[in-house]
Amino acid sequence: MEQQLKQLEQEALAKIEAASNLKELNDVRVAYLGKKGPITDLLKGMGKLSPEERPKMGALVNTVRENVTNQLEARITILEEQAIQEQLEKESIDVTLPGRKIRTGNRHPLTRVIEEIEDLFLSMGYEIAEGPEVEKDYYNFEALNLPKGHPARDMQDTFYITEETLLRTHTSPVQARTMEAKKGEPIRIICPGKVFRRDNDDATHSHQFMQIEGLVIGENIRMSDLKGTLDALAKRMFGEEREIRLRPSFFPFTEPSVEVDVSCHKCGGTGCNVCKQTGWIEILGAGMVHPNVLEMAGYDSKKLSGFAFGIGAERIAMLKYGVDDIRHFYTNDIRFLSQFHRTEE
Ligand code: DAH
Repeated sequence: MEQQLKQLEQEALAKIEAASNLKELNDVRVAYLGKKGPITDLLKGMGKLSPEERPKMGALVNTVRENVTNQLEARITILEEQAIQEQLEKESIDVTLPGRKIRTGNRHPLTRVIEEIEDLFLSMGYEIAEGPEVEKDYYNFEALNLPKGHPARDMQDTFYITEETLLRTHTSPVQARTMEAKKGEPIRIICPGKVFRRDNDDATHSHQFMQIEGLVIGENIRMSDLKGTLDALAKRMFGEEREIRLRPSFFPFTEPSVEVDVSCHKCGGTGCNVCKQTGWIEILGAGMVHPNVLEMAGYDSKKLSGFAFGIGAERIAMLKYGVDDIRHFYTNDIRFLSQFHRTEE
């Protein structure tokens, strides 16, 4: 019997050693230590032994059982560790791989134009003003010397909410609102914002677009101040070599009124497709604030004078960046917008 036990032990230990996974080990455990296994059988046969032999054999069976159990446990630990190790190797991360690029957005070209213009005017001591996009007929037209029935209203048809409320057609109503609020005090503001027109959209027209209004009122503000200011604007937006030219024009809220051209930034003034061979590009309307406009807002037109201008933000952006269709600004096409990705600013 002792012989048999030793043999069983050898067999079990050899199988434990050979087992390559936890399932095989479990099979070995069931086969040798389980209720139907040979060691249990041997224990059951103890009754047949003489009383002197029994304790000796009992001790021997226990030792064998312990040995096999210990070996099993040791092997389980090893296999478990191996499994973890394998998993770790499978899941290992290659830290030398290049990372995935994070796509960053960039500022919209119109925002850039507006911010550049804001920076310039803030540096000249202007404040940034705002006004409502849903505006009163009074501020949009009447207070700007465009009474009801004035023919110049035809050029600025808009979306009416009621007879007296409309989507503003320009940022000029902010002039009237600011004057009213400042109650005769000097003013130096610019006002960027959305404006609306009843227009059919095409490459150069949009029913919604952006303007930047400027208004300066004070003692002895003259046409030459306007000219100097717009010259600085043209140089800032289109380059230091640019020059401006004023042409007589008409706006009901300014007298005299001018249309302002800048020398072509593409050809330098010799004539090209951008300036339609003229060497000049029209960029904005401006003028000296009409006395009626000053008086309606409570300013004494004998003591104070002022100038105003209105810039089309899209037009500046189209010229500056060579954009040929105004609709590109509104369609949110990433292929268009990503072209304005600049990091040097
Ligand atoms: N409000 C005018 C427009 O939308 C532009 C304009 C012209 C604004 C002359 C002014 C100005 O302030 O003085 O057509």
